[in-house]
Amino acid sequence: MDIRVAKTAGFCFGVARAVDRAYQCAEEDGKKYCTLGPIIHNAQVVSDLAEKGVGVIDSLDNLQDDVTVIIRTHGVPKSVYQELENRGIPYLDLTCPFVKKIHTLVSTHHAEGCQIIIIGDSRHPEVIGINGWCDNSAIIIENLEQAEALLPPEKKVCIVAQTTFNKNIYKKIIFFLKKTCQNTVIFDTICNATEERQAESQMLAGEVDVMVVLGGQNSSNTQKLYQICKGVCPEAYCAESIEALGDIKRFQNKRVGITAGASTPAVIIKEAINKMENQDKDFATLLEESLKAINTGDIVTGTVIEVGPTEVIVDLGVKQDGVIPASEISDDPSLTPEDIVKVGDEIQGYVVRVNDVEGKITLSKKRLDSFKTWDAIEAARENGDILEGKVDGVVNGGIIVTYKSFRVFVPASLANDRYLTDLNELVGKTVPFKVLEINKGRKRIVGNIKTVLMAQKQELEKAFWEAAEVGKKYTGIVKSLTSFGAFVDIGGVDGLVHISELSWARIKHPSDVVSVGDSIEVYIKDIAEDTKKISLGYKNPLENPWEIAKSKLNVGDVVSAKIVRMLPFGAFAEIMPTVDGLIHISQIANKRIGKPQDELSIGQEVDVKIVDIDWENKKIALSIRALLPVEEPVVEEAPAVEAEDAEPTSYTDEVVNTIGDAVEAPATEE
Ligand code: F3S
Repeated sequence: MDIRVAKTAGFCFGVARAVDRAYQCAEEDGKKYCTLGPIIHNAQVVSDLAEKGVGVIDSLDNLQDDVTVIIRTHGVPKSVYQELENRGIPYLDLTCPFVKKIHTLVSTHHAEGCQIIIIGDSRHPEVIGINGWCDNSAIIIENLEQAEALLPPEKKVCIVAQTTFNKNIYKKIIFFLKKTCQNTVIFDTICNATEERQAESQMLAGEVDVMVVLGGQNSSNTQKLYQICKGVCPEAYCAESIEALGDIKRFQNKRVGITAGASTPAVIIKEAINKMENQDKDFATLLEESLKAINTGDIVTGTVIEVGPTEVIVDLGVKQDGVIPASEISDDPSLTPEDIVKVGDEIQGYVVRVNDVEGKITLSKKRLDSFKTWDAIEAARENGDILEGKVDGVVNGGIIVTYKSFRVFVPASLANDRYLTDLNELVGKTVPFKVLEINKGRKRIVGNIKTVLMAQKQELEKAFWEAAEVGKKYTGIVKSLTSFGAFVDIGGVDGLVHISELSWARIKHPSDVVSVGDSIEVYIKDIAEDTKKISLGYKNPLENPWEIAKSKLNVGDVVSAKIVRMLPFGAFAEIMPTVDGLIHISQIANKRIGKPQDELSIGQEVDVKIVDIDWENKKIALSIRALLPVEEPVVEEAPAVEAEDAEPTSYTDEVVNTIGDAVEAPATEE
């Protein structure tokens, strides 16, 4: 049997919305509901809802106290709303929005003085309802004959149609009315869903040998669908269910098309397809399948067969499919079903609701994940396992850490291994924690971060001391700065980089070079075994300016230099960044001078000759005088100098030509 099913078969938007909502009402605790007239033309749905507590009344006169009235998709006359309001009866209006639109059109045009004409079945509740919005003054036309017999109204005519009316007959009636009525305003209110269903069914009926239209005998849209299909496919059947068709073996080796009216539950369509597909299955297989009952609260496994933006459909190996609404797939609202699953995936879900009428089993992956997470939390508490979560905020007395779908409270005293003045600095960070306490009933979890951090720190310290040795390199994190250096975490242990170790240049404060949080390369310079204090080196030896100078400067070179400092016995001049040399007072001019300031000033650029270099002690002797013409010495009294600034006596009377005569170079160390 070649079975082809119309995509538009079954509940339309309006019916699906109303039936779904009615079933939700049935599940509400402490509230009673009833529908005013059967919610749809399907006895199975109506009796199932009645069993679940949502009965049917045919008139407001039969309404019991404290019962909320459900208005079905067909809508009701205006007078019904008035009665509900006047009597203070609570109601839930599930009129299809497309029908509501017709009510508004009719009410407005009736108020403007138009004669309303409704093309539809005068006994159909939808038409009765529409007529109730123009004081029951509408002319109702069901077929072309009635249109032809109509005496054209003298006033302006407003024409609307029943949403499920046959489109072809409607067109013929409109064609005729346009000719007879002079002043008309026409609203084609036939619902798209109906049009599409009719068009698809007609096309399908033309492609098959047998056409089956599933739906109630008193469902107007089902009967219209049947007429359309019968007009194309001579072997067409209209049946409320597959059973009503009798022996389906007669369809063997035929092409069978299936469509269904707007109020036919999916389960009836699915049952028909199953029966036709499984005619050859033996009794034992069918029995086994039918025994696979699924109940609310079960955990089921299935295969993803469809992934859409709003839901995921899962084949559970039973007659109904599982449906996971997008909101029940993940805790993360930014993720769509497509981000999480794909067709063919095996997936588990918690059964939230079984709805045979709608032919679906509502599942929640989110809820199942939540159960699993709770189990993991309980196990973590038992075993002392470490979990990881993200700090979401600060509350009174502590912080909230989110672990999957659960909130974990961590008291402020246990939020870190050191005292924090502001817990907000933890917000947004991922932290490890142990479960200290849980209360299943209140879903309350208390965590402890401190204990984990302290244990981790001890482990790191132990590992560090086992491997630490002078010269070993580390990538560390700058933890804090002081005026004398930077403390750097090199893996559970802090070491100090002295300020003189931070840069080859002279700096005023460690913050000139590093900031808290920086990741820097350091090496161990020294370990004080007794105090466990570690001195770290940071400067790159390859950037040692004295080493660079060594390769560039030679005795006898004439270089440009900048005066950076002056003392009574001479001036220091920078000849390369951070490399200074001394111009002894006797080498500043070719005459005797009282003090360096007599000839030089700070910042002044001068040409100097390198007269001696002591690389080992980082001393360079410079001379300006060596570049000047020789002048006869002028004999004068030497100026008196302060004791503390006095230079060695060997400098005073003669030209300094050897490095042994120079004073200490600036305090830069290797
Ligand atoms: Fe509404 Fe159209 Fe269905 S009018 S009830 S969606 S057929």
